[in-house]
Amino acid sequence: MTSQIPVDQLSPADAEAELARLAEEIASHDRAYYQADAPTVSDAAYDALRQRNAAIEARFPELIRSDSPSRRVGAAPAEGFRKLRHAQPMLSLDNAFDDDDVREFTARLRRFLGLGSTAPVELVAEPKIDGLSISLRYERGRFVTGATRGDGTEGEEVTANLLTLGDLPRTLTGAAPEVVEVRGEVYMMRADFLQMNQARAAAGEKTLFANPRNAAAGSLRQLDPRITAARPLRLFAYALGEVSQPVAASHWEFLARLRGWGFKVNERARLCSDVDEALAFYHAIGDARAELPYDIDGVVYKVNRFDWQARLGQVSRSPRWAIAHKFPAEQAQTRLEQIGISVGRTGALTPYAILTPVTVGGVVVSRATLHNEDEVARKDFRAGDTVIIQRAGDVIPQVVAVIPDKRPADAQPFVPPTTCPVCGSHAVKPEGEAIRRCTGGLTCDAQVVERLIHFASRNAFDIEGLGEKNVEFLYRSGRIGSPADIFRLEAGELGSLQPLRSQPGWGARSAQKLFEAIRARRVIALNRFIYALGIRQVGEATARLLALNYHRLDNWRTAMQDAAALRNGDAWNQLTAIDQIGPSVAGDIADFFAEKHNLHALDDLVAQLDRVEDFQGASGQTGSPVAGKTVVFTGSLETVTRDEAKARAQALGAKVAGSVSAKTDFVIAGTDAGSKLAKARELGVTVLSEQEWLTLIGAS
Ligand code: IVH
Repeated sequence: MTSQIPVDQLSPADAEAELARLAEEIASHDRAYYQADAPTVSDAAYDALRQRNAAIEARFPELIRSDSPSRRVGAAPAEGFRKLRHAQPMLSLDNAFDDDDVREFTARLRRFLGLGSTAPVELVAEPKIDGLSISLRYERGRFVTGATRGDGTEGEEVTANLLTLGDLPRTLTGAAPEVVEVRGEVYMMRADFLQMNQARAAAGEKTLFANPRNAAAGSLRQLDPRITAARPLRLFAYALGEVSQPVAASHWEFLARLRGWGFKVNERARLCSDVDEALAFYHAIGDARAELPYDIDGVVYKVNRFDWQARLGQVSRSPRWAIAHKFPAEQAQTRLEQIGISVGRTGALTPYAILTPVTVGGVVVSRATLHNEDEVARKDFRAGDTVIIQRAGDVIPQVVAVIPDKRPADAQPFVPPTTCPVCGSHAVKPEGEAIRRCTGGLTCDAQVVERLIHFASRNAFDIEGLGEKNVEFLYRSGRIGSPADIFRLEAGELGSLQPLRSQPGWGARSAQKLFEAIRARRVIALNRFIYALGIRQVGEATARLLALNYHRLDNWRTAMQDAAALRNGDAWNQLTAIDQIGPSVAGDIADFFAEKHNLHALDDLVAQLDRVEDFQGASGQTGSPVAGKTVVFTGSLETVTRDEAKARAQALGAKVAGSVSAKTDFVIAGTDAGSKLAKARELGVTVLSEQEWLTLIGAS
């Protein structure tokens, strides 16, 4: 039971104890209500608990707990939603920033498809609404589940919340396939957004939403669907996910079907017969932007023909058949107060601008990157300068230029540091390189913390609750210093005189949740594992390529160690033969493996894990006849371009290499094949004609 001492008579100790009790009690009612669907108190009693919690917090703000119930309104904690795997990944889009980028996009399409430079390529142009994307699954015409994008593979299930949207058809009108996933954008009209914020301000709410996008996201991700229902959310449908049977031959036709099923489709979408028409649409809608009832941040162009979309496929996380043409960044002027230096996970020293805060594109900006010291020198940024800054979409703010007339007389040019501002080690910049690096390695606090943050981040080990702030705390308090330590954290608690749950900002629940999140990652996919190591130039796509080519952790580890030991031996040659891995990337991988302390950290980590899962082909394509096989294309192909052939092979789980070796499984020889074909014959590698290859992969 909650004590009834009036809030203004509580001592700090009483307040602390009571906040702890209230957090526990409210959470238990929440569980009963949301999970068991069986409320244990009346609404009025529940509200009274929350009000008392809020009143105590208002009087003792320093005692607000990290697991306070008050923190769970607004943005609900992610762990409150069930995870849902998308039957087909939800992709993001590549960006174009000017007309030339868009022309290059269409030229690329033509090359990939092997079309002449004047062949017509129809594009559908659609306003790019600034909201949040969701996937809606319909089975036998009925809405069954809906989820946010999440990391593209797995999102949060928000079915109950989506059901409160008036724009969402619960059943599809007319004929529809057995299974169809519709993708779209949940957004808020500008007028609704303003009205809602005004109402919040009038009601004394402390937090107002920064923009319609944040408002839409915050409103959809509510644990209580009643809150979502009260928010003016809308929905446009614009893309297709999994489908059990074709629904259209083109995107334009598909949009008509969406309308027929009962979805709202943006009326401004337009079918364009070529790139000029698409660009004209972009400029026209850009001019009319302020009059639109919702915020848009650009235009999306999509190849109209579905058969071409299928052939074009995707690279990494974005389709080749679509691109987002962004509107120019919003700019503002402010004062550059000082130039600071941050140290990244690989030791790169990056100058950044500390600015007098200014609003750009609806967001307050007080820091901006200055990229590297050459850029600072080239643009001659100095502390005290008035500068132009810009922000484009989600992109980190940039400092564009100095206004020379406003420079104070005593402004001094920037002098790059020769020592690391974090650990004091030498910071060196090799001739011809743009980046200065700290030589402290893992003895540099900044590098350790940044590496650990990267390790736990969403596309790496994805440990919820291990963001910047907590990594920083756990490191500073001596609890973690390496990835393996993360997995020893929970065991270290036993018998500890200062368990995490008793530390400021932590509670029993938050510590427990963190341990659960860590435990869940003792089994990890090989590509995530590789990416998490934070090797220079090994981003997600490269990590995936490595996982695909080496398949198992022990294979990869041995091969990389061999490649590091002998930089033109077999292992090295095999590594650099992988399509898209050149000597520069291979060099960075080898450098990583040449360091004993890295090998030690890697093995130490592996010992803490239950399993690193073998890589299962591009998208689980183990059934394909070429999954795991190494193939080399040579000569010119008739039916498809070389790029298309390679992309198709990779999508089927094959490894595409650039040169022939004894490890090659197939050489696909087009006309005029030369030395690679000869080498294949010499080594006794199976040679296939283009037709034989197509038959093998079931494409003819
Ligand atoms: S198509 C594979 N169409 O933009 C194609 N996206 O930067 C997937 N967006 O995540 C997206 N309007 O949230 C598409 N008409 C539109 C869009 C649109 C807004 C958003 C969407 C997506 C992001 C990609």
